[in-house]
Amino acid sequence: MGEGSPFKDTVLKGKVALITGGGSGIGLEISTQFGLHGASVAIMGRRRHVLDEAVASLQSLGIQAMALEGDVRKKEDARRVVETVVNAMGRLDILVNGAAGNFLVAPEDLSPNGFKTVMDIDTLGTFTMCHAAVEYLKKGGKGKDPAEIGGLIISISALLHYGANWYQIHVAAAKAAVDSLTRSLALEWGTDYNIRCNAIAPGPIADTPGMDKLNPKESELSAEQLGIPLRRVGEKWDIAMSAVYLAAETGKYVNGHVLVVDGGSWLAKPRP
Ligand code: HXC
Repeated sequence: MGEGSPFKDTVLKGKVALITGGGSGIGLEISTQFGLHGASVAIMGRRRHVLDEAVASLQSLGIQAMALEGDVRKKEDARRVVETVVNAMGRLDILVNGAAGNFLVAPEDLSPNGFKTVMDIDTLGTFTMCHAAVEYLKKGGKGKDPAEIGGLIISISALLHYGANWYQIHVAAAKAAVDSLTRSLALEWGTDYNIRCNAIAPGPIADTPGMDKLNPKESELSAEQLGIPLRRVGEKWDIAMSAVYLAAETGKYVNGHVLVVDGGSWLAKPRP
C-alpha cells in the first residue's frame, strides 16, 4: 500500500509523470503519492531551491524523481522540460498541470497585465504544457487496443468560477478556461490519441499556498464558518488520492470530467 492509501503501491508502476508546480503544496503531494504508487516523477517549477528540497524529500521516500526548472508560460521551457523527462525516464504517461498564480485583488485595482499574468500561467501555461507533451502522451493511443489505458492529463482547476468569488476575477476566468480546455482535449485527443483529459477542482485544502492566500492563518475561518458541509477542511491527500484514482486503472473510462473534491463546499447554503 502507498502511505495511508487504499490503493496497492503498484497501481502506477512503470508510469512516468510530469507535474508542473510539483515542488510545493498540492503538486508536491500528488508527486509524492504518484511515486509511492510506483510512478517515476518529474517536477517542474520556477524556483530552484523549492525543487531541490522537493526532490530530496521524494527521493528519501525511495521515489525515482527529478526536478526541472522552467516557466509554463514559455514554450521553449515546456518543450525542453518534456524532452528532458522523456530522455531521462524513457517515456511520458501523465501530465499534471498544477502550476498556478494567485493573489487577492479587487477588479478595479487589478491591472490588465495582472489579469494577463494569471491567464498566462493558469490557462495558456496549461495549454502550452499539453501542447508540448502530446507527442509523447499519445504513444499509448489510437491503433492499440482501446481497452488499454492511454496517456492522461490532469489539470488542477478551482471552484472560483462556480458562481462568483471576491477578489478572484482573474483566477476565476483562468480556471473556467482550464475546464473548457479539459473538455475540448478530452473530445479531440481522446478520440484521436486515447489520451484522457480531466481536471480536479479542490475546495479549501489545508497547508497550501492557495489556502494561505485565501484564508490566512491570522484570520483563519473554521470549516463551519467556511460553510463546508462535511465540516472539515480538506487535506492535500484528498486531492492526491483523486489523482491516483484517475491515473490508475480505476479511472480508465473517465474522460472530460472535472472532479470536485471539496466536501460539498461550493454547494453550501445557510440553513433556513
Ligand atoms: C495586484 C499584482 C499582484 C497583487 C502581481 N500583480 N501581484 N496586482 N495585486 N498582489 C500584477 C503586477 O503588478 C503586474 O502588473 C503583474 O501582476 C505581473 O506581476 P509580476 O510580479 O511581474 O509577475 P510574476 O513575477 O510573473 O509573478 C506572477 C504572480 C506570481 C502571479 C504574482 O508571483 C505568483 O503567482 N505567485 C504565487 C504563486 C501561488 O500562490 N500559487 C498558488 C496558487 S493557489 P503590472 O500592471 O504592474 O505590470 C491557486 C488556488 C486557487 O491558484 C483556488 C483557491 C481556492
